[in-house]
Amino acid sequence: MFKDKIVIVTGSGSGIGKSIAKMFSEKGAIVCATDQDLEKAKKTSSECVNKSYHFKLDVTNKLNIKEVFNEIINSVGNYQILISNAGVSTMNYIEDLTEDEWEFNMNVNAKGIFLTNQEAITYFKKNKIMGRIVNTASLAAKIGAPLLAHYSASKFAVVGFTQAAARETAKFGIRVNAVCPGFVKTSMQEREIEWEAKLRSLSPKQVIDDYISQTPLGRLEEPEDVAKVVLFLSGSDSDFMTGQAINVTGGIYTT
Ligand SMILES: NC(=O)c1ccc[n+]([C@@H]2O[C@H](COP(=O)([O-])OP(=O)(O)OC[C@H]3O[C@@H](n4cnc5c(N)ncnc54)[C@H](O)[C@@H]3O)[C@@H](O)[C@H]2O)c1
Repeated sequence: MFKDKIVIVTGSGSGIGKSIAKMFSEKGAIVCATDQDLEKAKKTSSECVNKSYHFKLDVTNKLNIKEVFNEIINSVGNYQILISNAGVSTMNYIEDLTEDEWEFNMNVNAKGIFLTNQEAITYFKKNKIMGRIVNTASLAAKIGAPLLAHYSASKFAVVGFTQAAARETAKFGIRVNAVCPGFVKTSMQEREIEWEAKLRSLSPKQVIDDYISQTPLGRLEEPEDVAKVVLFLSGSDSDFMTGQAINVTGGIYTT
């Protein structure tokens, strides 16, 4: 289904983005692995089984996005799929949250989605490409998460933006959807376990047990659990879906 389709994945140097990039590659896509950390993007590209490319891309930098997406068009070809996945988190009680933390989470998670989606939608419309966009939101985009008020706010923004973009671009054949993962085993989760253990005076093991006990399917989520749904939303099996924010949480949240 994805043979020779050109796919841009942001934040693909690690975790969920890396898994998405590799899964697309296994299905025959030409992957453009991007990350703000060039070495990590390069590593992901080297693990792709099909032809792939790597680029340094900071999703908070409009000029950088324009340059890299144009370079992809000129040196790789017309891209049809954008996976806007790059994201960051920090953890704190609301009374201790700093403006820097707020701005960091908002900039990467919300503004990063706006800028990358804006560039792709402009390009799709101009070239009459029925493009597909999948944005990585979060369980925290459906239900505000303690210690993550700022992160939740940034991820609620992702869902709002996705819905608006989908309704605005549907008449051009463009589809925009989002995925909402739960507790996924990535380096972001490793950092969060340490922070949460400290903030709640628990051991890291107690935090992990808490994540698992909240998850009806009874285990931590793997990056591949998310990647499978991202590929579904990027392919023709989801042709009549747009503006959706699909929970991939092992049943934690059901609406
Ligand atoms: N891990 C989870 O439990 C979980 C749950 C729900 C949602 N998510 C979301 O999934 C996405 C991927 O998270 P992950 O768990 O794989 O994290 P991760 O930290 O393992 O990977 C994130 C990647 O994004 C890159 N990145 C950070 N800032 C960037 C920027 N400004 N521009 C470009 N790249 C940047 C990092 O270098 C890193 O390679 C994020 O949007 C995150 O919010 C994660």
